[in-house]
Amino acid sequence: MLSLTLTGLKLKNPLMLAAGIMGTTGGSLKRIADSGAGAVVTKSIGLEPKSGHSNPSMVDVDCGYLNAMGLPNPSYKNFQHEIDTAKEGGVPVIASIFGGCSLDFSQISIAIHADAFELNVSCPHAQGYGAEIGTDPILVEEITHAVKNTVDVPVWVKLTPNVTNIKSIGLAAQRGGADAVVAINTIRGMAIDIESGYPILGNKFGGLSGRAIKPVAVKSVYDLYEALDIPVIGVGGISDWKDAIEFIMAGAQAVEIGSAVGNNINIFNEISSGMEAFLSEKEWTLEDIYGMAHQV
Ligand code: DHB
Repeated sequence: MLSLTLTGLKLKNPLMLAAGIMGTTGGSLKRIADSGAGAVVTKSIGLEPKSGHSNPSMVDVDCGYLNAMGLPNPSYKNFQHEIDTAKEGGVPVIASIFGGCSLDFSQISIAIHADAFELNVSCPHAQGYGAEIGTDPILVEEITHAVKNTVDVPVWVKLTPNVTNIKSIGLAAQRGGADAVVAINTIRGMAIDIESGYPILGNKFGGLSGRAIKPVAVKSVYDLYEALDIPVIGVGGISDWKDAIEFIMAGAQAVEIGSAVGNNINIFNEISSGMEAFLSEKEWTLEDIYGMAHQV
C-alpha cells in the first residue's frame, strides 16, 4: 500500500533514514533497514578521512538538536564495504557525499557503488564545503552536472534552507540534471552556556534539526514542488506518521527521518503502520495525498 518508485528506485515505503545519523557503518545502516525503513542514506563521505570538530559536537535544545560534527568520515577509500554490508538489509542504499568542488564530487562518485547519490551541498558549518557551495546556484548546477556525467544511478541534491530563495537553488540542481532534490538540511543555530558565557559547541555554531524545523521544511517542500519538475524528498523534524503525511501533502514524494531515530529505532515501522491506518480510514492512496495541499 505504501510502495512507490522514486527516481527509478523501488521502495517498499516512502520512509528513509536521513544522512548523518546511524549512517557511518554498514551494521547500523542494515539495522535501520531491518527496522522497516524503505531506504537508507549514509553519513556524508568525502575525499580524505576526517575526525570532525572538537566536542561538544551536539547539544539537546528545545524541540531539537544543534550539531556541528564537522563531517567526520572514513573517506570514500574506506567505505565501500560499509555500503555492501548495508545492502544486506535488502533496501536501496544511498551514498551521501560531499566535496569542495565538482572534481571532488566526481572523484568520489566514480569510486563508490551505491543505488543513488545524495549530494551534500548544505552542511551549515563546514568551511569550503556544504552550504558554502550550496548557496551558489552556479556551483550547485556544475557539481550536479559533474556527478550526473560520472554515474548511471539517480542523483539527489540536498538543499540548505540557509538561503534567501531555496527555489533558485532547486532550479540550479534541476538544470544540472538532478533526479530529485532533498529539502531541507539543518538550519544554522547557536547555543551559549550562561554560567561561563561560552558558546557550547566546539565549533561555536552548528545546524538545528528536529521538531523545531518542521514548518520551515514543509514550506520549502511546498515551494519546491511548485517550482520544479523533478521529485522533492522532504526532511526536517518528522517525528510521527502525521508529520510524514503532512510532507507528502506539501509535495514530497518520500521523506527522510533523522533526529527522531535517535530516540526510537522502531520509528519506521510505527510511522508506516500509522500512515497505512490513516490512508485506509480515509480511503486515500499515497498518490491521492501527494501534493494535496496545492489544490487550494
Ligand atoms: C554535519 C553535516 C551536515 O550536513 C549537517 O546538516 C549537520 C552536521 C556535520 O557532519 O557536521
